[in-house]
Amino acid sequence: MNASIEQAAAKGAIVTPAVSVEIEGVNLSYGDNHVLKDVGLSIRPGEFFAFLGPSGCGKTTLLRLIAGFNQADTGRVTIGGRDISALPPWKRDVGMVFQSYALWPHMSVRRNVAFGLEERGVKRAEVDRRVDVALGLVGLSHLADRRPSQLSGGQQQRVAVARTVVVEPKVLLLDEPLSNLDAKMRVQVRRELHELQQRLGLTTIFVTHDQEEANSICDRIAVMNDGIVQQVGTPMELYENPVNLFVANFLGTANILDGRIASDSRHFELDGGIVVAAGGDIPPGSKLVFRPQHAVLAPADAEGAGIAMSCIVTGREFLGASVRYLVTIGTKPVAIDVPFQSGRDLIEISAPASVRIPQRSLLWLSN
Ligand SMILES: Nc1ncnc2c1ncn2[C@@H]1O[C@H](COP(=O)(O)OP(=O)(O)OP(=O)(O)O)[C@@H](O)[C@H]1O
Ligand SMILES: [Mg+2]
Repeated sequence: MNASIEQAAAKGAIVTPAVSVEIEGVNLSYGDNHVLKDVGLSIRPGEFFAFLGPSGCGKTTLLRLIAGFNQADTGRVTIGGRDISALPPWKRDVGMVFQSYALWPHMSVRRNVAFGLEERGVKRAEVDRRVDVALGLVGLSHLADRRPSQLSGGQQQRVAVARTVVVEPKVLLLDEPLSNLDAKMRVQVRRELHELQQRLGLTTIFVTHDQEEANSICDRIAVMNDGIVQQVGTPMELYENPVNLFVANFLGTANILDGRIASDSRHFELDGGIVVAAGGDIPPGSKLVFRPQHAVLAPADAEGAGIAMSCIVTGREFLGASVRYLVTIGTKPVAIDVPFQSGRDLIEISAPASVRIPQRSLLWLSN
């Protein structure tokens, strides 16, 4: 798609100044189902922003609210500083790509892309020019005369994107646009989408329940659960400093250990009698959380720095770049990832061993 983008840029591609999107104090209910709960988000001009969360948490509802297909009970949405809450969808300068693509089956690719411009009464020559640019942007110029049924899933997805960007929206909304594609295509098309978004500099909101997808292409992510924004941050911020157990669990694998906070608030007694020094005050109600790759697995008698917890190795999974050891600390199963080095001995199953974690890698989190 690179070459097509270059050509499109040379022809004067569809570029509008990037705008911010502000969502303030939004509540929305379907009957007595309170779906969005006091949602507030600031999305920066030109940002590739993700709504990430499990099925049913309200992602599509929030996207449709921005597009104007849903009305909030309270709160407002502004785009580029302008309150658009009262505007109908077609006056919002927002383009939405639906999960189903919703292409017209009886129309060619070219006519599908032209449709929105024709509806707006744009002159024929201008329609042709803009459709050519949009098809070039998504690398589909050579398939312009095909019907959607004669295209692969990935190609149909690109038609849906072309059809949306051709009307020059200020904000692009993508609702799980890759969910109909197989694993390999998903990776390819998500890179293409990212490239296109960078080229157009278009403020984009991308809905997904796939953390890898959000991590790989988005500047920042809002993690949602049950209609509540749990945390907003870059993929790395969310991974390294999750605010609660939900975010820690949703972004990557997290080991979570129950225990009792000692009366001095600085020690944590795990089930099985192991005591961990926190190096500071432990917030009330916390559990001990750490990532599999932040710990080191060593022979039981090995010396070393950090917090040491004795464990028994119960299983082993070869993951390619690393080996995931399944161990039991006290009574609790835990995963430890060790980089795989060819020729190095693996730790035996059933062996007593020691898990060591730098104190700074311990997280103290609650729900
Ligand atoms: N039109 C509707 N009428 C009533 N309830 C609805 C409607 N649309 C969605 N809901 C409910 O609102 C909640 C949020 O739905 P939404 O479609 O926003 O979730 P989502 O996060 O997009 O989930 P998914 O990942 O499965 O697409 C769900 O409980 C859903 O059943
Ligand atoms: Mg949805």
